[in-house]
Amino acid sequence: MSNITVIGAGYVGLVTAACFAEMGNSVACVDIDEAKVGFLRRGIVDLYEPQLEPLVQRNMQSGRLSFTTDIRDTDPSPDFVFVCVGTPLNGDRIDLTYVYTAFTSLAGFLAASAARVVIKSTVPPGTSKEMAALLSRMRNAKGVQPVVSNPEFLREGRAVHDFQNPNRIIIGATDACAAEAVADLYRQVNAPLIMTDPSTAELIKLASNAFLATKISFINQVAALCESVGADVTELAQGMGFDHRIGRDFLDAGVGYGGSCLPKDTQAMTELMVAHGLQPWLLQHVMRINGEQPLRLVDKLEHALGGLAGRRIAVLGLAFKPNTDDIRCAPAISLINELQFRGAEVRGCDPVAWNRAAYAFRGQVQCLHDPYVAAQGCDAVVLATEWPQFLGMDLHRLAQEMSRPILVDGRNSIDPEKAQEAGFTYIGVGRSRLPAPAKNQAAITERGELVHVESSK
Ligand code: NAD
Ligand code: UGA
Repeated sequence: MSNITVIGAGYVGLVTAACFAEMGNSVACVDIDEAKVGFLRRGIVDLYEPQLEPLVQRNMQSGRLSFTTDIRDTDPSPDFVFVCVGTPLNGDRIDLTYVYTAFTSLAGFLAASAARVVIKSTVPPGTSKEMAALLSRMRNAKGVQPVVSNPEFLREGRAVHDFQNPNRIIIGATDACAAEAVADLYRQVNAPLIMTDPSTAELIKLASNAFLATKISFINQVAALCESVGADVTELAQGMGFDHRIGRDFLDAGVGYGGSCLPKDTQAMTELMVAHGLQPWLLQHVMRINGEQPLRLVDKLEHALGGLAGRRIAVLGLAFKPNTDDIRCAPAISLINELQFRGAEVRGCDPVAWNRAAYAFRGQVQCLHDPYVAAQGCDAVVLATEWPQFLGMDLHRLAQEMSRPILVDGRNSIDPEKAQEAGFTYIGVGRSRLPAPAKNQAAITERGELVHVESSK
């Protein structure tokens, strides 16, 4: 069994630390966020991720998992160090500040024995090589200490399951011994192992997320065509998905993709192409289509209501997808902003993320956790996230709470017939022939962001 230091205790770092501890390793997890570490030391996980808290608690109790804010509290000669810090966008590019800071603290602390240093954060190609050079420079080492790339593919809401049952394990290294050592850490995991160079490994990660985003924007554009020709996109996706070369996953049309990674990594890949003199037309359009999806839904609702000014709308689902409290780049946020811009009075509702969203909206949007309360007196409800709690709603009761029962299903997750039986006017995505949308009051930038245009009146 190995001694492992994990830097960063967010979605990826905490799951990595807990899962490696569960495999029998001794893991120290470092995070600069004192409040987070304070909670973790008491066995409290400050993010909503199924299975994670009991896993953390079990491994802390067995003495295999510990938390600190200071890397100097950890073993100076661990077998492995996993860097799992955030890599947010800064403008159009991935910001490597946290990665640099993590490596700088490592360089000053690691004993000469040289642990295997692994980057799990999503980074542009070339970063592992750059960090290897930085480590060697800072430690005045003679040769360059290899840094291994081992990108992570877990999904929020299924993070523990995905870490333990990945579709593949990617290891990018210039040094075969380092690659074998990292591969050996995963010996209990049954998944195809791909050994490659660090830049290819780093690019596999970005390209995978950009491809998933492309699939979603593709089906969303087809959904618009379905509305024009009177076809049903859910049946279309099924029909396409049975072709193994296409696959059914990520063909759910809806309000668009969100989260901390698909938008960021698609943008990062676009910028990378521009930086290398390539034309990123495909991905630019992927982002543009995604930016338009919430607008299209608002257009349909505006048309159905004959205007949005003064209308009361409940948006059900604030997290970017179910089973997480993460609201980063959540489509619900764009929806709410646009509805408010067009004069509607909006309430948000989420069984888990309601509190976090209320904080993010700084009190400008009332955020609740009960859909029946949120729907009271509303002219319409918009389903933005397909939480099981919403899919199991009593639609008759919901309709009775409302002043006008209109249901905009931004996830195509509610049976239109059941909604209609309950008295709703049902509006889905790509599921029916719809009237032409009202004129947009907003424009979409190349990056798929909304920019409001001044009215000429
Ligand atoms: P996160 O924001 O949830 O967590 C990052 C953590 O790193 C924070 O707790 C922060 O305090 C900590 N940190 C920053 N600098 C530090 C330092 N110098 N020392 C110690 N701790 C430090 O981020 P995340 O969602 O876990 O993502 C981490 C990386 O993994 C990103 O590159 C992301 O793109 C990638 N990724 C994320 C997911 C996901 O589902 N969230 C999946 C795969 C890959
Ligand atoms: C995504 C990838 O799926 C992970 O493999 C990757 O590790 C991760 O990003 C990352 O790099 O952080 P995640 O962001 O957790 O995972 O969420 P997804 O399940 O991919 O969903 C992303 C968004 O796409 C959500 O808003 C979801 O509602 C939307 N989506 C997904 C659709 O609109 N249609 C679909 O068919 C599928």
